[in-house]
Amino acid sequence: MQASCPSGAILPRLPRHFLTGTELSGAQLDALLNRALEMKAQPRASRPLEGRSVALLFEKPSTRTRLSYEIGISELGGYPVLLRPDEMQLSRGESVRDTALVLSRHVDAIGVRTGPDALLAELAAEGSIPVFNMLTALHHPSQALADLLTLREAFPDRPLAELKLAYVGDGNNVARSLCLLGGIAGLDVAVASPPGYALEPEAGGARTTDPFEAVAGAHAVYADVWVSMGDEATADARRAALAPYRIDDALLDGAAPGAIALHCLPAHPGEEITAEVLYGSRQRIWDQAENRRHAQKALLEFLLAG
Ligand code: CP
Ligand code: NVA
Repeated sequence: MQASCPSGAILPRLPRHFLTGTELSGAQLDALLNRALEMKAQPRASRPLEGRSVALLFEKPSTRTRLSYEIGISELGGYPVLLRPDEMQLSRGESVRDTALVLSRHVDAIGVRTGPDALLAELAAEGSIPVFNMLTALHHPSQALADLLTLREAFPDRPLAELKLAYVGDGNNVARSLCLLGGIAGLDVAVASPPGYALEPEAGGARTTDPFEAVAGAHAVYADVWVSMGDEATADARRAALAPYRIDDALLDGAAPGAIALHCLPAHPGEEITAEVLYGSRQRIWDQAENRRHAQKALLEFLLAG
């Protein structure tokens, strides 16, 4: 693809990436969420990825992300190519650079779930096609898109800038992406974590160690696992430190009237959330899981056909 600059010279058009989510402006994020709502209402109304292929590289397990991207790409008319690291020459020492160069000759975009954010950055720098984040150790922006979409649906009469979300638990990739993308949307985000597990202030939003302080006035209360993928070695210490940060009915009662419970899943009922909340009348968690597909379809259209 090419574009002309003011001097008239032809310049290569840079691919759009979605590495942390902060690539989006407020207006782009707003338009993307609106488009996701349209796509949810009519999931097969358009096929902007007709004839296009998207590689999905999973270096970590996944249920929702794999399903929602693979089926979402198919609904958009595209062809998803699932890649496992142990089946690729990457596992035998082929460089990320060469992998990016070859993928750029065969597919139209690359989604990656891995630990190091640097792998995504290198694929984006060395390839010539969009790269999008399907979860890294530091970020989960695909999840945050679905979370914002679920808030839009749950509170249709109020803009995101008039809502507050309280995240209760480990200051991890999900918490960071909620703060970063929530900040772009104007959402008020408060994060309650125990000492030693706090999210850095630079991600935006407020910090406290008190879950009840965080949920005061909140329209949504959000949980994630206490032991993220890659944190298994410190599981016992995490469970001990995070035990007071469980989302239960009493904590939800401390939020704004009509507040909803959210969880990116997978859940561990009895740990970060009670079964009563997970399957109860105040959760929007299963809508949230479905919304992964609709939000990501809008993202793919933006990255590939926007
Ligand atoms: N929430 C989420 O990313 O789920 P998976 O790990 O199952 O993809
Ligand atoms: N924080 C969790 C999210 C899982 C979807 C993890 O990284 O494992």
